[in-house]
Parts: sequence; structure tokens; C-alpha cells
Amino acid sequence: MSDQVREQKDFTKAPLCLSGRGVTKVFGFGNKRTVAVDHVDFEFHEGEFVSIVGESGSGKTTLSKMLLGLSGATEGQIFFQGRPRDISSGRKKREYWKGIQAIFQDPFSSFNTFQKIDTVLLDCIHMRGGKGLSKQQKFDMMTEACHFVNLEFKELTNKYPFELSGGQMQRLMIARIFLLKPKILLADEPTSMVDACSRATILDMLLNLRDETGMTVIFITHDIGLAYYISDTVYIMEHGKFVEYGRADEVILNPKAAYTKRLISDVPKIHEEWDLSTVDLRTGEAL
Ligand SMILES: Nc1ncnc2c1ncn2[C@@H]1O[C@H](COP(=O)(O)OP(=O)(O)OP(=O)(O)O)[C@@H](O)[C@H]1O
Ligand SMILES: [Mg+2]
Repeated sequence: MSDQVREQKDFTKAPLCLSGRGVTKVFGFGNKRTVAVDHVDFEFHEGEFVSIVGESGSGKTTLSKMLLGLSGATEGQIFFQGRPRDISSGRKKREYWKGIQAIFQDPFSSFNTFQKIDTVLLDCIHMRGGKGLSKQQKFDMMTEACHFVNLEFKELTNKYPFELSGGQMQRLMIARIFLLKPKILLADEPTSMVDACSRATILDMLLNLRDETGMTVIFITHDIGLAYYISDTVYIMEHGKFVEYGRADEVILNPKAAYTKRLISDVPKIHEEWDLSTVDLRTGEAL
């Protein structure tokens, strides 16, 4: 990640990857009824880095779960690559999940504690149809994936995920994504568990991954300053609705909705460049 705001591209003419019309989620009934996501429309394109920004309780995780197909919408429709998404059977769901992967808030919950790291990575290669590859080819792929996130595969063989630090675990999650190469990566506040140095490293890796594979990244955050820095497009979410969306620089430098203005006023230094010169971007350690 350089210490300058990246150039933000206009993706409106790129092919559609994931889109939705009137997507709604209601929890409970009567006076316990909560409209967590309220008739949202969205269009995420191939290769686009999208941030969904909103305060706690605005509906971000609820929407993510619907995008992932982990929870059904009460109303509305989701489209994958321009066609209505069909996850009506187990087989169709598994097929969909080859195209979309997630990184969750807590990396410790993302791994099976009893699986060694080699098995975690081998599973990814097998999921991508690499069962028939030679041992050496698989070894090379795992080494390359670890190298991408500055981990040393040789040092990880025979270890369990819980033997890693929080930051290493986050990087291992990104190594998995590197091997799985999904069309869409959904990252729900993946940086909240780690310190600011590791945070910069992880975001840098996500940007590199997008540049290298052309995947769509949907990044969920409270932090509008960060969204400005890292995304092409932002969607601002308040009480289950998108109150504003568009190119990150347009929305954040010229906000129209009162809610966006308030989020921005909470960020002390949005126009200043991030100073990452004190961080080693390969490892996330302070210099
Ligand atoms: N399973 C559930 N049952 C009932 N209400 C729920 C459920 N899940 C979420 N909600 C409600 O839906 C609303 C949105 O919650 P959600 O977790 O999507 O917010 P969020 O934007 O992800 O917040 P945070 O930033 O704190 O993670 C909240 O009012 C929450 O209480
Ligand atoms: Mg959440």
C-alpha cells in the first residue's frame, strides 16, 4: 500500500458480478419485528473493490449473510453474474460457494482446530479441482500462496492454526483465498482483531489479490476514512437502507446524505494521506 490515496476506477460499465433488487430481511414478529435490511438495491462489478460502510446495527452482517447464501432474504432477489441466483439445492449451494468466499471478523473461528495447516491449504487445492496434481505441484502451490502473504510454508507444515498469532492467522486466511481464487471475496471487518500495522498489511494484501486475480471484493466496515482510502465504490448503510452510493471519492468528498456527512465529521483527518512509512508492509511490523 503506498501512502497516497489510490486511483479509483469507474466500474459502472464492467460486467456485473453480484447484484440485488429490493433485498430485505425482517427478523421477528409484532412488537419484536426488526427490519434489518430494508429494500436495498446494489450492483457489484467484476474486479470492483466495494466498501459497505455503516454504524453498528445498520444491517451490514445481515446483508453479508444473505449475499453468502447463509440466510434467506425475506423479500427481493439476488443475481449472480447477471442471472437470478439459484441456491435451492445443496449441490447448487456448493457450486455457488466456489464463486464466493468470506473472511470473518474472528480468524480463530474460521479454522477447524483439529486440522493441520497443510490440510487446510490442501483442501483449498482440492476444492479447485486439483486432486489429481502431483505432490510436488501441490507443494509448490502451497509455498506460493504462503509466499504471497509472507508466511514460510516449510515452517508451517505440521502446525495447527491455533499455534499462529492473530496476524499470522489472518494472513493464512488470505493464503486460502489466494488458492481458492473465488470470483467474490466478502470481508466483514477482517481487521478489527489485529493492530494497526497488521491491518495495513492485510488491506494491502487484499488489494494485491484483487489486482492479481480480478476478483470482486466486498469490504464491510465502520470506518469511512478507510473505505475512502481503499475502495473504488462505497455504499453507505443506515438503518438497513443504502442512503448513498457511488465512487468512493465522489461520495466521500462530496457527500449528499446527512448520515454520510456525520460519518465523515467523525473522522478527524480524512483528507490527509495515511502515513504508513513507519510500517514494514511485508510483515506488518513497525520499522
Ligand atoms: N438473528 C437475529 N435475530 C433478530 N435480530 C437480528 C438478528 N441478527 C441481527 N439482528 C438485528 O438486525 C439489525 C442489524 O444487525 P447486523 O448484525 O446486521 O448489524 P451490523 O451492521 O453488522 O452491526 P455491527 O457493525 O455491530 O457488526 C440489528 O438491529 C440486530 O439487532
Ligand atoms: Mg456486523
